Amino acid sequence: MARRSCAIYATGIVSAHLLVVGIVLLVAQVFQTMIHSRLKKEITLTEKSQMFEGWKNPPPPVYMEYYFFNVTNPEVFINGGKAALKQIGPYTYREYRPRENVTFLENGTKLFALNPKTFVFVPEKSAGDPEVDLLRTINIPFVAVTNELNQYPFLVRSLISMIMNSAGIELFMTRTVHEILWGFKDPLLSRIHKMRPEVDDTFGLMWKKNGTHEGEFVFYTGEQNYMDYGKIDTWNGLREMSWWSSNQSNMINGTDGAVFHPLINRNELLYIFAADLCRSIHMGYVQGSTNPPPPPHPGSSHMGYVQGSTNPPPPPPRSIHMGYVQGSTNPPHPPPQVIHMGYVQDVEASRPGGDCLGTGVLKVSVCREGAPIVVSFPHFYQADPKYINGVEGMTPNKEDHETYLDLEPTSGVPIRACKRAQLNVIVKRVKGFPKTKLIQETIFPIMFVNETATIDDDSASQMRTLLLIVTLVSNFPLLIIAMGLLLLLVLVVLFCRNRQRKNEVKRIDFNEAFHSFATTKDDQAYTQVSDKPEEPSEPPRGAPPPPRGAPPPHSGQAPRNGSYIAMSPVEAQKC
Ligand SMILES: *[C@@H]1O[C@H](CO)[C@@H](O)[C@H](O)[C@H]1NC(C)=O
Ligand SMILES: *[C@@H]1O[C@H](CO)[C@@H](O)[C@H](O)[C@H]1NC(C)=O
Ligand SMILES: *[C@@H]1O[C@H](CO)[C@@H](O)[C@H](O)[C@H]1NC(C)=O
Ligand SMILES: *[C@@H]1O[C@H](CO)[C@@H](O)[C@H](O)[C@H]1NC(C)=O
Ligand SMILES: *[C@@H]1O[C@H](CO)[C@@H](O)[C@H](O)[C@H]1NC(C)=O
Ligand SMILES: *[C@@H]1O[C@H](CO)[C@@H](O)[C@H](O)[C@H]1NC(C)=O
Ligand SMILES: *[C@@H]1O[C@H](CO)[C@@H](O)[C@H](O)[C@H]1NC(C)=O
Repeated sequence: MARRSCAIYATGIVSAHLLVVGIVLLVAQVFQTMIHSRLKKEITLTEKSQMFEGWKNPPPPVYMEYYFFNVTNPEVFINGGKAALKQIGPYTYREYRPRENVTFLENGTKLFALNPKTFVFVPEKSAGDPEVDLLRTINIPFVAVTNELNQYPFLVRSLISMIMNSAGIELFMTRTVHEILWGFKDPLLSRIHKMRPEVDDTFGLMWKKNGTHEGEFVFYTGEQNYMDYGKIDTWNGLREMSWWSSNQSNMINGTDGAVFHPLINRNELLYIFAADLCRSIHMGYVQGSTNPPPPPHPGSSHMGYVQGSTNPPPPPPRSIHMGYVQGSTNPPHPPPQVIHMGYVQDVEASRPGGDCLGTGVLKVSVCREGAPIVVSFPHFYQADPKYINGVEGMTPNKEDHETYLDLEPTSGVPIRACKRAQLNVIVKRVKGFPKTKLIQETIFPIMFVNETATIDDDSASQMRTLLLIVTLVSNFPLLIIAMGLLLLLVLVVLFCRNRQRKNEVKRIDFNEAFHSFATTKDDQAYTQVSDKPEEPSEPPRGAPPPPRGAPPPHSGQAPRNGSYIAMSPVEAQKC
């Protein structure tokens, strides 16, 4: 009896300690803090970091799909009608984006890198052969040149107009997809090149973009502050740009979109600097279908993102979607957690003396040598209806034309990214160019891209392992509490049995009492005796044989109570 009570007390004490320690650890978030600070240390751009290789040579395949708008009724447009467009494509290229010339600066707190992109055609993911397929679209050099000439005296314009006529240059051009993308000698530009050699005689939407980088970047490694992981310090030596007119538009904020700092908070805005737009865009996090201001989630403090107020972190990565804030009137985003992407406000205000454009379009002339280029979502998704209706054939829809980004919030690793953008030109009537006399001024879509990257299996399993570790470690206090509760349960069972046993002793017959007495030597091992009468001749297989030294069961014995516990020595179970 004394040993039994002793065991009960010990169990009780250990259980209480485990519970107290577990709860204290849980409340103080010791383990969570520990694993989070570990994460912040590990997720950096230093050579010993596991992230570094993946950053230098990103393993997930990136595919760039080009879709074009083939003009089916050029005469109608020239005579003042609406252009009818037919989408063709995709022409898919695999993108390789290694980081080159990686050099650590300032004691390894920053690093310099170039990020050249190489495009290799993938025929099996394409709708046709870009070298063969013809595309009829607006003559972009023509539009760019006439736009530029608008500021010149009428005489110059007339002269150029005559040159154009003699060279047979029209408002529309028909070229192969490959030429339009990767460059061709343009007759108009060639003539201008002769007069002004600084003007390139070749035109292509991606001319000189194969194998070249978008500028020299200096990134923070995030060693000093995890929030700075992958953040751009300078671009081409600049901390901010100067070509936009508002300070906000000129900011260079955030990462280049390849990495994000770990432990992303739902309430923070994520910034990405898009070198091709010469702008920083930001992403805001929205939960459910509620739009921008997300309701602060209980327990979504900086340290509490993973563990929140509810139990363990979700095993499937939370999906964070990104969409333009601008012009996003009421996009009901079904995916539960949505990030909205916005150009840093005041798009039109930031353009010195520029056209006042409606929502959903961004003029990027400033970084396209003054060409009247406008960026939007494909099919003018979320843009002003006047643009959607300005041409025929636009069918904007969320599924195909939205830009989004799925991040794993604990590690900041992008799971899936889909960047969709459309390139348009502003087509205007220009005095002195009779070819433009009748046209409807509009924003004319040329093409759109769908650039997708999905995490590769290796990185995904690596990330899952990391998440598992984070989950296990941050939930370690729960394990302690569980052990405490288990012991508590054992305690209760022991306690009850102890009491029950005392009662039993009073009413069992002598034989049983003797039997119990004989075996109390070994308190710890016991087997339950079934309430069926035992068959001494043939014990069921697997069932423990009758205890050694115990009197053979006899038929005259009183029927056993189901709750009766017979004690048997351990040795009996070994055979
Ligand atoms: C990058 O490195 C190559 C040689 O590895 C060198 O030729 C080139 O000038 C470097 N580029 C810059 C911008 O430092
Ligand atoms: C680099 O570290 C050394 C020693 O820690 C320090 O003296 C020096 O000022 C640091 N240089 C920079 C650029 O941070
Ligand atoms: C881009 O450059 C790479 C390597 O120089 C080449 O293999 C590829 O075919 C080029 N892509 C295009 C579209 O010209
Ligand atoms: C685009 O339109 C032109 C002119 O009508 C036509 O020759 C060409 O085949 C079309 N391209 C595709 C890919 O359908
Ligand atoms: C932009 O910043 C400069 C200096 O940083 C300041 O002089 C100027 O007033 C700012 N402009 C606006 C519009 O805030
Ligand atoms: C954005 O970058 C500018 C400098 O270009 C900096 O002053 C500003 O604080 C940054 N804003 C955010 C939100 O990081
Ligand atoms: C890219 O977008 C187009 C439509 O915008 C869609 O049909 C296609 O499936 C997308 N491709 C990928 C890889 O998501």
